Amino acid sequence: MTTVYQEPAYYELAFSFRDIDGEVDALAAIAERYVDGPVRSVFEVACGSAPHLPALLRKGYRYWGLDISEPMLAYARERAAALNGSARFLQGSLADFALPEQVDLAVVFLGSLYVTSTAELTSHFDAMARALHPGGLYVLDWCVDFAPGVDIVDTWEEESNGVSVQVTYTSRSISRLEQTYREQLTLEIDDHGRRFTLEEESVKRAIYPQEFLLFLRARDDFEHVGWWPEWRMDAPVDGIEGMGRVVTGVRRLG
Ligand SMILES: C[S@@+](CC[C@H](N)C(=O)[O-])C[C@H]1O[C@@H](n2cnc3c(N)ncnc32)[C@H](O)[C@@H]1O
Repeated sequence: MTTVYQEPAYYELAFSFRDIDGEVDALAAIAERYVDGPVRSVFEVACGSAPHLPALLRKGYRYWGLDISEPMLAYARERAAALNGSARFLQGSLADFALPEQVDLAVVFLGSLYVTSTAELTSHFDAMARALHPGGLYVLDWCVDFAPGVDIVDTWEEESNGVSVQVTYTSRSISRLEQTYREQLTLEIDDHGRRFTLEEESVKRAIYPQEFLLFLRARDDFEHVGWWPEWRMDAPVDGIEGMGRVVTGVRRLG
């Protein structure tokens, strides 16, 4: 069966509830405050079809994107070809990669930190340490779990230009000891009367706030600089309200 990440246009429709330009404005404001030095380049981890690329290029950044899916990268390359600016892509796993040059800013959107174990989390941060200039910043959107993200079901619907998609997201615990869970994404599509289903299954290791701080403290290459709920720099992270999607910033130490 064709999977969701082989069909970028339907993937983008399913997640079109996002305020892409607003996320990039918030990312730029966070970078402005926390990057030590000028911000000239950005690296997107698990960039997929790169929906943020136009807004990032408008900020004047040089762009690097990494993804494991060739169909998603092909869509991203096509998008880049229609834009002014520097955009380069790399196919590979975020668990271990080598970026050809160091960047000032890195970001992973929409909880796309696909690590399946503590060893992969460690090797991802080793690769990120090599990818970032000292003083550079790594911003992780929805990757540290403040609200329970395991054993849940969520559904929503999106529609555009005669195409509708009913989305079902489920996550089921695999091992509570290893903090692993299986994510299932199902898109039921009606494209001008043609009906079909796309699915995507992935395994992830959950990351919790206090263990993430301890994880960073045990390393000597990153410091935590902030948490922001839903990309809002003015909102505090405390209590339990509004903690569904928290953005995290870590700076590369020199
Ligand atoms: C939810 S999409 C996010 C795409 C894009 N960043 C966005 O904001 O729309 C997740 C992406 O992660 C990619 N991915 C999954 N596992 C990966 C891995 N181990 N290494 C690199 N990319 C991976 C998928 O191919 C997919 O494009």
